[in-house]
Amino acid sequence: MRVLITGGAGFIGANFVHHTVAHRPDDSIVVLDAMTYAASESSLDAVRDRIELVVGDVADAALVDKLVADTDIVVHFAAESHNDNSLRDPSPFVQTNLVGTFTLLEAVRRHSVRLHHISTDEVYGDLELDDPQRFTPQTPYRPSSPYSATKAGSDLLVRAWVRSFGVQATISNCSNNYGPYQHIEKFIPRQITNVLSGLRPKLYGAGENVRDWIHVDDHNAAVWTIIDRGRIGDTYLIGADGEANNKQVLETILELMDQPADAYDHVTDRAGHDLRYAIDASKLRTELGWSPQHADLRAGLADTIRWYADNQSWWSGAKDEIEARYARAGQ
Ligand code: NAD
Ligand code: TYD
Repeated sequence: MRVLITGGAGFIGANFVHHTVAHRPDDSIVVLDAMTYAASESSLDAVRDRIELVVGDVADAALVDKLVADTDIVVHFAAESHNDNSLRDPSPFVQTNLVGTFTLLEAVRRHSVRLHHISTDEVYGDLELDDPQRFTPQTPYRPSSPYSATKAGSDLLVRAWVRSFGVQATISNCSNNYGPYQHIEKFIPRQITNVLSGLRPKLYGAGENVRDWIHVDDHNAAVWTIIDRGRIGDTYLIGADGEANNKQVLETILELMDQPADAYDHVTDRAGHDLRYAIDASKLRTELGWSPQHADLRAGLADTIRWYADNQSWWSGAKDEIEARYARAGQ
């Protein structure tokens, strides 16, 4: 199969490229990535001879048309992905997440090419800490931030193109990912690289916000399961029952890195900060037979810490600038 992977030089996309190279040796892979600040070409070093990297914008209609005409399936990861950035400047989020997805949809429609659209559980808004319900494919959309609103909009565009134009697409909404190659602006790698840099980790507010953590390899295995066996037009939620609050995650990182449990700062909370995300992935588990292979969060954090410690050259160049940006926001 010829696979076009948008956003394949970012965190989840690069891991997806590695996964595809390892598990599908006969597939040919083209990565389309605009190489924004969030991308890293070196994330693809180990697979460089197995892929073609096209540097370009998913909202460039002519380029996208040409690439889509030449592929069997598009897996669409490309997005602006960081909530804090979307609060500072929403404009690239509207452009890439909405206009970029629209551009891709028009191309797959013209060429009758299969699409898998990657999305987030944040489209559902947040839950109370004691709410027994978790997100399901029936949960109404109620996004909070410019990031989650543009992802929600992109999902709705995909659904409309399926219904109105017969586009052959599936959608997945996944919970918070962690693992290697994640940009150090995000919570887990920011705290790990703070400790490695001699800086104190930073917890927003009281740290009671809950995220439902999943290892990126489990996410990507689920995506291939949906591509192979999912029903066209359907939405699948991906999660690994990994709920933990931010304070618990940070304290685990500190313990694994031999730091005192209180060696961190409380900083200004995020505006509109979603309280809790939690995924009910039973549709994916029962209908498609997927289950996570890396659901032990502590073990996954230990591996991730080792990866950032062993790959300092991958992240150290960006550290000062990221921390200066956070410092300006009191975070
Ligand atoms: P990321 O920010 O690490 O990577 C995004 C990639 O998209 C980057 O390589 C970037 O250069 C590229 N990109 C941005 N704008 C582009 C454009 N206009 N044209 C082409 N490429 C462009 O993000 P990520 O964490 O890997 O997330 C990937 C996808 O997964 C996103 O759609 C995100 O919404 C979704 N998602 C992420 C998580 C998570 O926890 N990180 C959870 C669920 C869903
Ligand atoms: P983040 O990794 O930005 O993912 P998302 O906003 O998609 O959930 O943040 C995860 C959680 O960690 C979120 O509740 C915000 C919090 N957080 C901190 O406490 N400190 C930090 O330095 C960062 C970046 C995030």
